[in-house]
Amino acid sequence: MDSSFRIAPSILSADFARLGEEVRAVIDAGADWIHFDVMDNHYVPNLTIGPLVCEAIRPHVTAPIDVHLMVEPVDGLVPLFAKAGANLITFHPEASRHVDRTLAMIRDQGCKAGLVFNPATPLDHLMHVMDKIDLVLLMSVNPGFGGQGFIPQSLKKLKAARALIDSWHRDTGKTVLLEIDGGVKVDNIGAIAAAGADTFVAGSAIFGSKDYQATISAMRREIAAAMSGTAR
Ligand code: DX5
Ligand code: ZN
Repeated sequence: MDSSFRIAPSILSADFARLGEEVRAVIDAGADWIHFDVMDNHYVPNLTIGPLVCEAIRPHVTAPIDVHLMVEPVDGLVPLFAKAGANLITFHPEASRHVDRTLAMIRDQGCKAGLVFNPATPLDHLMHVMDKIDLVLLMSVNPGFGGQGFIPQSLKKLKAARALIDSWHRDTGKTVLLEIDGGVKVDNIGAIAAAGADTFVAGSAIFGSKDYQATISAMRREIAAAMSGTAR
């Protein structure tokens, strides 16, 4: 089992007028991935950024860009984001007519593929496509906006997803990452890690803080403290 932990600042809370500088700053401050939220005012009630912006930030960092598609339909945007430099692409199963096909398309484009689960979406979609998935992203808020509160029930869902992923790993030797998105802060990240997450999206907690490095280090300390003495 992969025992490392990734922190993925969501640029939704960054200063959009200085995006290149902002992504460099969080990576220099110790972040692992850049989380890139794509909203279409159709699947979610908000409108953000597309492949052109991904292409624009790509030269600023070598870190993986984690594209979270909150769009419907999904398929048309997959090749555009792959070409724009995305490394991971996740989408919501409700937004694709053919989930298996979309997952295969993401990998065919050379990216890692993942499914995103809204708070009320059951994990059942995983059942028949685990072999096409590199990561599972659980929403701990309803998608559409940064700065919302963490939904406590997500901890229970994380445990269920962790059990599925661990059993898949035991059976196949394959690693699937478990990412959490929404309301992650320094004061709850330990409990979130203990419940099973290994990859943490944080938007307002990082970009809303004065010192990115201090915030990311505090998050890592909380994760380490929560995990000390556990098997993972
Ligand atoms: C919400 C987005 C999140 C959001 C997280 O739809 O998917 O990535 O930016 O923001 P915080 O960390 O502020 O909840
Ligand atoms: Zn997101």
